[in-house]
Amino acid sequence: MKLWGGRFTKPTNQLMDEYTASINFDKKLAKYDIQGSLAHVEMLKVCGIIPAEDADKIADGLQVVLGKIESGEAELSEEHEDIHMNVEKLLIEEVGAVGGKLHTGRSRNDQVALDMRLYLRDAIGTTIQLLVDVQKALINQAKLNLDTVMPGYTHLQRAQPVLFGHHMMAYVFMFQRDTERLMDSLKRVNKSPLGAGALAGTTFPIDRQFVADKLGFDGICENSLDAVSDRDFVVEFLANASLISTHLSRLCEEFVQWSSAEFNFIELDDSFTTGSSMMPQKKNPDLAELVRGKTGRVYGHLIGMLTTLKGLPLAYNKDMQEDKEGMFDTFETLKGALALFAPMIDTMQVKKENMYAAVKNDFSNATDLADYLVGKGMPFRESHAVVGQVVLNCINNGKYLLDMTLEEFQSFSELIESDIFEALTPETVVNARDVAGGTAKHRVEEQIAKAEQILDSAGLTGL
Ligand code: ARG
Repeated sequence: MKLWGGRFTKPTNQLMDEYTASINFDKKLAKYDIQGSLAHVEMLKVCGIIPAEDADKIADGLQVVLGKIESGEAELSEEHEDIHMNVEKLLIEEVGAVGGKLHTGRSRNDQVALDMRLYLRDAIGTTIQLLVDVQKALINQAKLNLDTVMPGYTHLQRAQPVLFGHHMMAYVFMFQRDTERLMDSLKRVNKSPLGAGALAGTTFPIDRQFVADKLGFDGICENSLDAVSDRDFVVEFLANASLISTHLSRLCEEFVQWSSAEFNFIELDDSFTTGSSMMPQKKNPDLAELVRGKTGRVYGHLIGMLTTLKGLPLAYNKDMQEDKEGMFDTFETLKGALALFAPMIDTMQVKKENMYAAVKNDFSNATDLADYLVGKGMPFRESHAVVGQVVLNCINNGKYLLDMTLEEFQSFSELIESDIFEALTPETVVNARDVAGGTAKHRVEEQIAKAEQILDSAGLTGL
């Protein structure tokens, strides 16, 4: 007999039971479902809606049920559709008919919304902690590479030299925005929908604020129809996760490129790479590739959820059961990637000499020659043209700027003097970008100090 079987004369079709049941995936919510029920039953007791003695029996029974679910002893069945009804069924088995009082003043509609919010609150906290670990690994590499000059790119063409530490710090601030977005979303996640009932509220004299306080919510959802039909907070998480995946994927792409023979800028540790079954020489950056690849499923879950919600009338609709698998998979995908990223970054070997050699053998100091001429009074547009001529001449003669003699330089502009050779070395060129946020060594040190101050602030570690 189903918990709601009273008005039915026939059992449901068995294939239909299998198709509509969510227990196979929403069992992940068991802990949160029971946490919510414990708060609800205590409120029922405090408000005198059910006798204290019954409430205490139910609370004890819920603890036993949780233990049995966690140990695998409890049998969860598709017949009872979802985690909410399975728990109630198990509770009644445990404490008898009195267990049937738990659902007083509550519906599965506000219950499931509550479970989702409790799950996501934890998931967001974990994601932020893992982001912080990745940021710390990036900062460590930045500190170790404050003298490592590498080519900076635009259009994947060598543009101007930068410090490798500067490049690492770019990702630190990128992930910082991700953390801030997640923190901001908590304002909307952390509201209690319980008390909305099926859609309209409840006739029992419940205390919504009591339940909210008990569960550590910042407040309650203000409108019962909105409370049970809102899944914006799931969409927001999927959107934030998508952007995190974008950022991870961009970093992955750099790791893949840098560890190719063509770049040869880094070597990823053996523990984060794999070999080929056929080619004995291969060392593949599999982890970076797979994290890049999994971006697809995270984006997929976002568009899937948006599409599910589009066009749904108020309030609850069964369609909304589709909110779960994408959210679980997104969190687990992200958690796996972030947890592996910190050690992969920590253990990678940075090939400083190769980066430096790449800078030496290119024209990434050409802007500095133009800026040098500007310093001697030439308008920038004119100096740009002169240096264009110099570069063309070098290319035709198989040289770089620092291979030229002073006489050769002066044949393009008499403003050039012997200090030009010092002005064009990679170190000078990097340290000349001495502007807030620039790549000069002490500017990168400033960024590191700023980032460390943000990470140490109570707001992040106090979660
Ligand atoms: N398993 C359902 C879900 O995840 C729980 C809510 C069901 N409510 C209902 N009235 N059928 O959405």
